[in-house]
Amino acid sequence: MKVLTVVGARPQFVKGFTVSRVLRSTHEEVLVHTGQHYDEELSGHFFAELDLPTPDYNLGVGSHSHAEQTARMLAALEEPIAAEEPDVVLTYGDTNSTVAAAMATAKLPPRLAHVEAGLRAGDRSIPEEVNRIVTDHVSDLLFAPTASAVRNLRREGITTGVHDVGDVMYDAMCWARERATDRSGILDELGLEDGQYVLATVHRQRNTEDGSRLETIVSALAESPLPVVFPAHPRTVERLHELGRFGKVADAISLVDPVGYLDFVRLLTGAERVVTDSGGVQKEAFFLDVPCVTLREETEWTETVDCGWNVLVGADGSAIREALSRPFDLDPDRKPTPFGDGDAADRIVRVLEDA
Ligand code: UD1
Ligand code: UDP
Repeated sequence: MKVLTVVGARPQFVKGFTVSRVLRSTHEEVLVHTGQHYDEELSGHFFAELDLPTPDYNLGVGSHSHAEQTARMLAALEEPIAAEEPDVVLTYGDTNSTVAAAMATAKLPPRLAHVEAGLRAGDRSIPEEVNRIVTDHVSDLLFAPTASAVRNLRREGITTGVHDVGDVMYDAMCWARERATDRSGILDELGLEDGQYVLATVHRQRNTEDGSRLETIVSALAESPLPVVFPAHPRTVERLHELGRFGKVADAISLVDPVGYLDFVRLLTGAERVVTDSGGVQKEAFFLDVPCVTLREETEWTETVDCGWNVLVGADGSAIREALSRPFDLDPDRKPTPFGDGDAADRIVRVLEDA
């Protein structure tokens, strides 16, 4: 079997390496990097750390508006898919790279497989929600991470080709958890102690383009009772500079460059709580028994909210401050396990073999 995998943004490297490892032991994989993320700390670093092979193709698309970025990827993907003649094209998550891979494949012979199918936040003004819906509706094989994702697909009339395999990010965490504790020196580097800091990440379009939301978020973080460490996405740094707020924020919060995956897992493991608008980080916090405060009005990872381990506060200053100071009375032993058994990658490869 020949599989052509398309990745392009940070979370896709974390998701993709789990399946790549299994796939490459018995099958041929062609790896295509769209170039959506290109900075070393958002891209190259992950390939080295996660032992991902050098991409066979790097489309070098870079940063543009949504339409232009997606269009450039779509056009550039046609040639490798036609030339390689894979049996399957594999796409992950909900970025512009995901939807470009989906649309490029949908009109060509290979089957299209979507990992993390069926996620819905219920708000089509979010670019990622559009990417998810479009990708799911043109996919032949839909790998749902949870039972609720299967239900979401059924509600939209998608029942064929759907497989509830568990979450590849849980597989990744099973691989990383102990390694991170053994190998990462990030806490010492940043002068942090386990349980004595809050970890923050902010990068979503809604929270960066809208300056007043970003201002509210960083002001509330600056009032956190515990010190805050914030590995900042370049988009957020750029926006803080534009708003003239970078210096003030850097005085109040420990703003650092994005860190590698094992360092991030180590930071999350030791955090007293995490404040984030990331999709993946909400789940990773849940895997590691760390309470999560989500800077969004909705989430596609509803299971983490339903059991109390995640609270949605949007960009409401008082709600963020309250969530930063209130105790979370949570029992890890009573936490549900909706994300599978850590063998999602094996199950995905078995389905691909049988399809
Ligand atoms: C993208 C995804 C988002 C995902 C995130 C993961 C879409 C629509 N969004 O958001 O779902 O959560 O990746 O991190 O696909 N930039 C750099 N260096 C880079 C890449 C980007 O400086 O290597 C800056 C550029 O100013 C760029 C901005 O970040 O304009 C946004 O990058 P882009 O890839 O468009 O979106 P992300 O916010 O990274
Ligand atoms: N991550 C990382 N370093 C960082 C921030 C995040 O390695 O400085 C990892 C994190 O562990 C998770 C993934 O990046 O696996 C999440 O990516 P991101 O938040 O950029 O995207 P989203 O999940 O929101 O699409």
